Order: sequence, then C-alpha cells, then structure tokens
Amino acid sequence: VPNHVISRALTFTETGDIDKVLSLTNHDLSTKPPPGHVLVQFLASPINPADVNQVQGTYPSHARLITSSTPSTTPFAVGGNEGVAKVIFTSPDITNVKAGDWILPFKPSFGTWRSHAIIPKDEMIVIKDEQKKGLTPIQVGTASINPITAWRLLKDYGKLEKGDWLVQNGANSGVGRAAIQLAKEFGFKSLNIIRRRDQNEEHILMVEELKELGADVVVTDDEIKDKERIRELTNNNDIKLGLNCVGGRIVNDMAKLMAEDSHFVTYGGMSKKPVNLPTAMLIFKNITFYGFWLTKWSKANPKEKQKTLDSILDMIQKGKLKDVPVEEIEWSTNTVGSLLVDKVNKTLDGHRQGKGIFIFKDI
Ligand SMILES: NC(=O)c1ccc[n+]([C@@H]2O[C@H](COP(=O)([O-])OP(=O)(O)OC[C@H]3O[C@@H](n4cnc5c(N)ncnc54)[C@H](OP(=O)(O)O)[C@@H]3O)[C@@H](O)[C@H]2O)c1
Repeated sequence: VPNHVISRALTFTETGDIDKVLSLTNHDLSTKPPPGHVLVQFLASPINPADVNQVQGTYPSHARLITSSTPSTTPFAVGGNEGVAKVIFTSPDITNVKAGDWILPFKPSFGTWRSHAIIPKDEMIVIKDEQKKGLTPIQVGTASINPITAWRLLKDYGKLEKGDWLVQNGANSGVGRAAIQLAKEFGFKSLNIIRRRDQNEEHILMVEELKELGADVVVTDDEIKDKERIRELTNNNDIKLGLNCVGGRIVNDMAKLMAEDSHFVTYGGMSKKPVNLPTAMLIFKNITFYGFWLTKWSKANPKEKQKTLDSILDMIQKGKLKDVPVEEIEWSTNTVGSLLVDKVNKTLDGHRQGKGIFIFKDI
C-alpha cells in the first residue's frame, strides 16, 4: 500500500473570472486518514451553474478554505458542490463504511472537483449496496441537488393535488427535467417553457424529448405570451404553481397565466435579470411569491433530505427518472488543467447540449 496518493484538484485562492482564478493543482494525501475520516476517490462530479457562481464570487455560500500543511501556502478552496466518490481507505475506527462503498459529500461547499479527498464520516451520505445496484456514477453523482430541488418545489409549495397544473421555465434544465418526471409521478400536469433552438430540427427534438419524459405541454418563451392559446393547451384549467429559474420578463408572462391565490417559487436566475412582477398579480390575483434555496432547506431538514434522496435513487433504479443529457469530460492523470478550466468557463453559455460532468479515469 503506498503511503500517499496525489489528489489533483481544481482550486482557487480568490474569487473572480474562472480562467484567471481556477487552476489544476496537486496535493499529497496520506492513505492513513485521521480517526473518523475516510480517503475517497471521486468517480463523477458535475459542473452546476451555482458552482461557477461560487468561483466567480457571486454566490452567497462560499467555498470552504483548506489550509495546507505547508504554512507558507495560501489557503485554497476546491470547486464543485456535487459528486459521487468511492471509499479507498478508512481510519481503523470507522465501522459504517468500507473500501469500495460509494459516498456523497453531505454538506455544501465540500469541493468535488478533485480526484481524491479526505472526508469526515459525519459529512457524507453512504449509498447502500442495494441502492447503487445497476446505477452509474453519473446517475448517483447528479442525484443530490437538482432532483431534490425539483422534489421539494413540487411537494412543499402550492399543495398541488392530482390533476393540478404547474408552469415552469428552464424546463430543459436539470431541475426542469426532474420536475417534469416527478410531476408525472405525483399525478400533476406540467406546462413547460423552453427557449427556441436556432435550428428547427433541434427544437422539435427537444420538445419531443421533454414530452417523452412526461411533459404535458411544451411551449417557447414567445408562445406563452398568447394567453388564449395557452388556455386551449391546458384545457382551461387553473395553473396553481409556477417555478422560475430564469427571471426577467418571463416571470410577468407566467404570472399572467396563473390562477388567483396560486403560488410562485423562484429558485434560480439564469438570465441574471431581476424578477419582473406586475402589481396586479400581487393585489388582484393574490399570488404568493417565494424563494427556495436547497442549501438552506438541507441545513434545516437533514433527515428529510436523506429520505428524498432515497426516494430519488429508488425512482432512478425503477427507470422513472431518466439521466440528464451530459457532456462527459474525462479527467485522468494526463489531463491538462486548461481543458478542465475551459469546460467550467463555458457552463453558463446557454443552449448547451448537456451538463458538463467530470469523469475520473485511471487517476
Ligand atoms: N435554489 C436552489 O436551491 C437551486 C438548486 C439547484 C439548481 N438551482 C438553479 O436552477 C437553475 C438550473 O440549474 P440546472 O443545474 O438544472 O441547470 P442546467 O441543467 O445547467 O441548465 C441551465 C438552464 O438554464 C437555461 N438558461 C441558460 N442561460 C439562460 C438565459 N440567459 N436565459 C434563460 N435561460 C437560460 C438553459 O436553457 P437553454 O438550454 O435554452 O440555454 C437551461 O434550461 C440554475 O439557476 C441553478 O442555479 C437552484
């Protein structure tokens, strides 16, 4: 057994432009973790929009600083908040997990864009053998943020009952796709908004893809302005819940479609524009507007988070929650840092084919 491994990590010592502050660095880790700790090797770690904002310094929760054992080294943070890792060594006092088990870091800002890490036992969720049966690292590595968010949005707001309608924008996002499938599972009807693709063929394919996932109606951000047409498509039913991850003018258009006393949750701001609300929606329609942040919800509801994750893994195993389209980014000992940094940098470009996900190979 070697007495150390080299962890290759995407790190930053200050926030700012991705290509200026993020770089690939090497760190020696002992194969004898301290008591209560486990040495893991990451298998798959996605690049989510919030991870990028965190490196840029525009996200409210900050990456955790790590102080190296060499005193002269500036403290650094590792990027990434989601991923699945395999246990390779444990400290002798550890009994709940063994080499070969898969774990998810439980707390946000752990830093998942690295080949290896030492993690305290109380900061990880252990995936049980029966839970991971048949599942890929990509499926498990993308289960703990977007699907949990979608689940909570559908269950905790608006008290929807079977047959009730919801409207959401960003419907082709990771959260959006999970919301489509969960809505179907829970018996809700979904009106889904996407941005038009430049190529018509590509657009038609995306609409079909979302319908196959269970979307009842898919329209563009232009089409939802036609209230009459939308009423036809939703069979004149009330829309009781709105979900927003875009912001700007589209919020106004969505609110106009919604029923009196309905509920509207903002959980993202991809357009970087403020939420635009017509006064009448507050006064006459009495729509209730909320914000949702998984980080805060998870801190307050750790047991419920575990339960939601268990239900999600079960749905994935049963084929009820399909993989999000991904762009696999291979990360091996030979991979150059600039390639990895470039992939992080392109994450917020829009009209992407799939979510970037680091796949650790031969590392
Ligand atoms: N509040 C929370 O706790 C929480 C938890 C998870 C995620 N989120 C947020 O949810 C959002 C989606 O995350 P994700 O990981 O599911 O995203 P994702 O899979 O990376 O997809 C990004 C989505 O954003 C859309 N988009 C990108 N730029 C846009 C723009 N300028 N205007 C309008 N739409 C734009 C994309 O549409 P196109 O394909 O048309 O570009 C796509 O639908 C993000 O804002 C993320 O931060 C929040």
